[in-house]
Amino acid sequence: MKAVSLYIHIPFCNSKCSYCDFLSFSDINNQEKEYINAVINELSLYKVLMKDRILVTIFIGGGTPSSISSKLIEKVLKYVFMNFNIQDNAEITIEANPESITAEKARKYLAAGINRISMGVQSFDEKELKLLGRIHRAEDAINAFYILREAGFSNINIDLMFGLPNQNINTYYKTLEKAMELEPEHISAYGLIIEPNTPFYEKYGNDADEVFDEDIEREMYNLTKSVLRTKEFYQYEISNYSKIGYECRHNKVYWTLGEYFGVGLGAASFNSISDKLLRYENVNSFKKYLEIFSELRLNENNNINQIRIETIEILSNSWKNKTEATVYSRMEEYMFLGMRLINGIDKNEFEKTFNIKIEKVYKEALIKLKNKNLIIEEENRIFLTEKGIDVSNYVLSEFIGIEK
Ligand SMILES: C[S@@+](CC[C@H](N)C(=O)[O-])C[C@H]1O[C@@H](n2cnc3c(N)ncnc32)[C@H](O)[C@@H]1O
Ligand code: SF4
Repeated sequence: MKAVSLYIHIPFCNSKCSYCDFLSFSDINNQEKEYINAVINELSLYKVLMKDRILVTIFIGGGTPSSISSKLIEKVLKYVFMNFNIQDNAEITIEANPESITAEKARKYLAAGINRISMGVQSFDEKELKLLGRIHRAEDAINAFYILREAGFSNINIDLMFGLPNQNINTYYKTLEKAMELEPEHISAYGLIIEPNTPFYEKYGNDADEVFDEDIEREMYNLTKSVLRTKEFYQYEISNYSKIGYECRHNKVYWTLGEYFGVGLGAASFNSISDKLLRYENVNSFKKYLEIFSELRLNENNNINQIRIETIEILSNSWKNKTEATVYSRMEEYMFLGMRLINGIDKNEFEKTFNIKIEKVYKEALIKLKNKNLIIEEENRIFLTEKGIDVSNYVLSEFIGIEK
């Protein structure tokens, strides 16, 4: 059976953080139940298609999935378990915020089959948490972590952020130390991005150069690497570190262009439906999503191809019949995502996928980046050097815009 992944989007948060532009709302009251029913209706459309596929990872993300009743999470997972094939050791993750974790929820998640928690902590500094608009204190994050451990979770990720306004190397070092004291299996450490349409954009968008210092951000990035290395975390992607064997399998599916189905508001999918490789996105209007899926009359004739979907890009009709433009965009994506991984991409894999040697497509970019000591080629792999990681945005951009 073909391996695929499933993403389930939960667009609710207890409160909106000042930096975040993820598709989530804190002002939709009492519609969680209706939303989950709509998600289950959407899932039902995939039943037939999923017959010859097996789920290897499931990611319940958001928003803040832990902010809604665990009964609703149980309900949606129960539907997935009853109707889809799931690999015995599938990785099943839920995103959680410290203020919404309770011992009862943790136990229910485990009983529902969830075996990995990704908890957003961002910082252990009270002032920084406040500035970010987080509604929990550092202590809440520590308590939530121990609650999860005591419930029996043995695979926990902590999200951290650096490059924050008023953050300095010392406060960030303390945050890293605190995170290490908890001994999670995985850390995601993201440099702050000032996203349009956020309170942070309004506040800092115009004078970002004065508030943020690139050198300090780089120092924080290097500090993350060195502190985590001493605790036997290894970096496997630009922003991700784990103990051996605890890389996030779901995210690796995205980075290696594996197939996935996304359900829920605004969820993205990338998969082959009836011989067509498609990339599509669900509508991102909450009202419209509910209109489409709440009213859905479940019957055998419903077909995922007929319903909703805001954008569709057909990437190829089949591997034997591809147009140049679609192949180019796939190649760019392959490089852009694959080179984020610390062990980079496999040249043979590239050739097998596209029927062409990578040097034929990217000759000039590869020579240029090697000469600048930004990438290394070793055996069959091409990957970023330390210097390349530092300027990864530039390196990755070199793989975009293949001469057409
Ligand atoms: C889906 S979000 C949030 C999950 C969860 N609701 C939480 O707040 O922890 C996943 C992670 O993205 C990161 N993130 C969100 N917005 C960001 C931004 N503007 N810049 C950098 N990292 C960001 C945060 O670390 C966050 O934990
Ligand atoms: S960071 Fe998490 S809690 Fe904050 S608004 Fe974004 S999704 Fe919601």
